[in-house]
Amino acid sequence: MAQEKKPVVIYGGSFDPPHRGHAALAAAALRQLRPAALYLVPGFRTPFKDYRPVPFADRAAMLKAALSGAGLGGRSEVKISSFEAGLRRVVYTWETVAHFSALHPRAPLYFLMGSDCLAGFPGWRRPSYLLKNARLLVGLRPGFSIGRGGVPFTALAGRFPEADSTALRGELFLGRRPSRLQPGVLEVIRARELYLARERKLLKAALTPRRYAHTLSATGLALRLAAAAGVPQQKAAAAALLHDCARDLPAAEQLRLCPPRTAAALREAPVLAHAWAGAALAKKKYGVTDPEVLEAISLHATGAPGMGPLARLVYLADLANEGRSFPEARLVRELAFLDFPAAFKAANYVKLVYAFAGGGWVHPLSVGLWNSLQEKKRS
Ligand SMILES: [Fe+2]
Ligand SMILES: [Fe+2]
Repeated sequence: MAQEKKPVVIYGGSFDPPHRGHAALAAAALRQLRPAALYLVPGFRTPFKDYRPVPFADRAAMLKAALSGAGLGGRSEVKISSFEAGLRRVVYTWETVAHFSALHPRAPLYFLMGSDCLAGFPGWRRPSYLLKNARLLVGLRPGFSIGRGGVPFTALAGRFPEADSTALRGELFLGRRPSRLQPGVLEVIRARELYLARERKLLKAALTPRRYAHTLSATGLALRLAAAAGVPQQKAAAAALLHDCARDLPAAEQLRLCPPRTAAALREAPVLAHAWAGAALAKKKYGVTDPEVLEAISLHATGAPGMGPLARLVYLADLANEGRSFPEARLVRELAFLDFPAAFKAANYVKLVYAFAGGGWVHPLSVGLWNSLQEKKRS
């Protein structure tokens, strides 16, 4: 049992995706503590984030690739634990510490994290229980300075640059290959079609190259504005990627996919049919069930009074992305980063002006949206 006196390290996180920074922290902990075990514990869902991580099995496969990319693949003390993911709920760190403490009753426990998490530590559930049962093992971020009276911890030797997981996921949703991920992780992502890879593959086959480029451009803007619009990143990516999924179908097919009443009201502007057809296709071909995503697709061309935050985001991103050449696009885009509601209103104005200039007929939903935004101003 002498083995048990060696330390045990717990490394919790979303690992969505696991990146070079994660592997560097794990490698440093192994070097410095020579633990009996280092458990990587992907969470089911963290208490602080509103996104739903990719399934545990996929994250475990990515983690495995990240570990072997960092030369830790064959190490028997490095284990991927399904403890948190298996509980299928938000699991607090104290519960994870309690679990591994029961598993290794005689071993000193360490909880590994980056120094960026230290400031929030007092707000965690049962911090005193945590500190009594485990020591914090901290990888210091560049520029970190130890303040007085903070939480006690053991520092890892070296400095560990922070990788922004939200930004990494944003790149993955656009089909890019960020260098902060190891090639093996990118290979798992490709093989398992994670981060909407399947959707992008189908879209690429269904759209003209120009439309596909527009789709990526709109998605890029939607992702950058998701926080300002109050929308989770994944929903922004899914809705923006699929917003024009029916745009290159034959016109008759688009009308056939529309709800009959909607189709009948589109005689003046049949081009708008692709929005409702897109929602139907998103459901049928792409397996979308989220009503907010479907709403965003069906309303991206006209808008509508009372449309939700995701629909507003896609409406704006469609109009104001970098691929648009009319001058108002840039103005709306720049305004959106400063004042999203004002930019949304401006987007509606620009659409109406162009619609009137182009023939005079405007869909009643677009007029309804305009009126609702004026009413809001008056009230
Ligand atoms: Fe469209
Ligand atoms: Fe579009």
